[in-house]
Amino acid sequence: MTWKPNSWRNYPVVQMPTYPDESKVNSVEAKLSFKPPLVFAGEVQALKKSLALAEKGNAFILQGGDCAESFSQFSANGIRDTFKVLLQMAVILTYGSSIPIIKIGRIAGQFAKPRSSDVEIIDGIELPSYRGDMINDMEFNKTARQPDPQRLIDGYEQSAATLNLIRAFAQGGMANLEKVHEWTLGFLNDTPETDKYREIANRISESLNFMKACGLTSSSVPQLRETDFFTSHEALLLNYEEALTREDTITAEKGWYATSAHLLWVGDRTRQFDHGHIEYLSGIQNPVGIKCGPSLEKDDLIRLLDKVNPNNESGKVVLICRMGSEKVNEHLPKLIKNIKVNGKNVTWCCDPMHGNTIKASNGYKTRRVAEILNEVNNFFLVHKSEGTLPGGVHFEMTGSNVTECLGGANEVKESDLGSRYHTHCDPRLNGSQSLELAFLVSDLIKSFRNGKGS
Ligand code: PEP
Ligand code: CO
Repeated sequence: MTWKPNSWRNYPVVQMPTYPDESKVNSVEAKLSFKPPLVFAGEVQALKKSLALAEKGNAFILQGGDCAESFSQFSANGIRDTFKVLLQMAVILTYGSSIPIIKIGRIAGQFAKPRSSDVEIIDGIELPSYRGDMINDMEFNKTARQPDPQRLIDGYEQSAATLNLIRAFAQGGMANLEKVHEWTLGFLNDTPETDKYREIANRISESLNFMKACGLTSSSVPQLRETDFFTSHEALLLNYEEALTREDTITAEKGWYATSAHLLWVGDRTRQFDHGHIEYLSGIQNPVGIKCGPSLEKDDLIRLLDKVNPNNESGKVVLICRMGSEKVNEHLPKLIKNIKVNGKNVTWCCDPMHGNTIKASNGYKTRRVAEILNEVNNFFLVHKSEGTLPGGVHFEMTGSNVTECLGGANEVKESDLGSRYHTHCDPRLNGSQSLELAFLVSDLIKSFRNGKGS
């Protein structure tokens, strides 16, 4: 059977909303199918080429952003601050590892959430769970929780506006390496991470001055004044993805492209190899992420890869492992061994967030920074002992000074969680916790490349 953007409709799907009025959904899908693409085939191919480098250990993926973007917290300053923290993290990693860092945001489309329960009960009242702003509203009342297809259009529009700003930041001067000192956010000024960051920034400035003396400046070398920045989100709402899937007729690598983001990933709850989500992802040319939780069986992973990447193309698949800080030691080696036996090309990435979610004694959903760092560390150790390559990290963060994850150098305590807990879904690292993660990963890559393990 020939794949079409709508082939997924012939398969079972889970985690997708049921709308009260089917005709309204149809008209929204029709409108979306006429909207301009958000990303272009040439950019998607460029990302795939970079990911092929990461697969061979010659680049490293830095993928981060909100768990769920929101309509109400949408602001230019918010996007700018997240972008700046990601730039800082990338500088720390590039400086430490001396390899290119592939920057991918969980941004400009990350609005739909899979949930472990279909309903939420508060004070005896049962309502549908909140599933992300592109589906329903977080507020706890009947109207707010009703899925509304108009939100698909609103999500598209916010994504377009976000991407417009990101492209300006990446290419219009903000990412200029000469501004490396200006990326530090005010609230990060007095943290130990910022002192360490300043040291690196000083050395980069010295190198830039030296290059200037040799006649190389950011006006003559575009690589110094611009950066590549890619977008990604979970491909959960297949009708939205279908409407934005377009056939490329211009570039050499013709075919169908998801144009809602450069990279799409499938969540841990929707990755059944014989279901609709995998069917959709199997037909697009974009690189695809697959979340690998502790319940993923090694043979099912091979079935998934046979379906999503039948030609075993390099740079096509990123396996985003989210096992938990201890479980990673038990589960990851099994997956790696089987991938080796079957000769599959994949890039191994570590999501140290989703296997380490806990409930604090005061009820907040949170994560301990120490466990997050521990999972990354163990991920590197497992790769060292299996002789394979750690290719990237995937995490939830924000440029705002939130108190959602416990610990870190600034020691967020359980009693602090309530003060700035703003996430629309999972707890995110704040700026200083993100930099802490970047310094750890930088050290890990450095020792790994020097052959010392971690
Ligand atoms: C997520 O990335 O926010 C998420 C829900 O992840 P997972 O599918 O791995 O649970
Ligand atoms: Co999440």
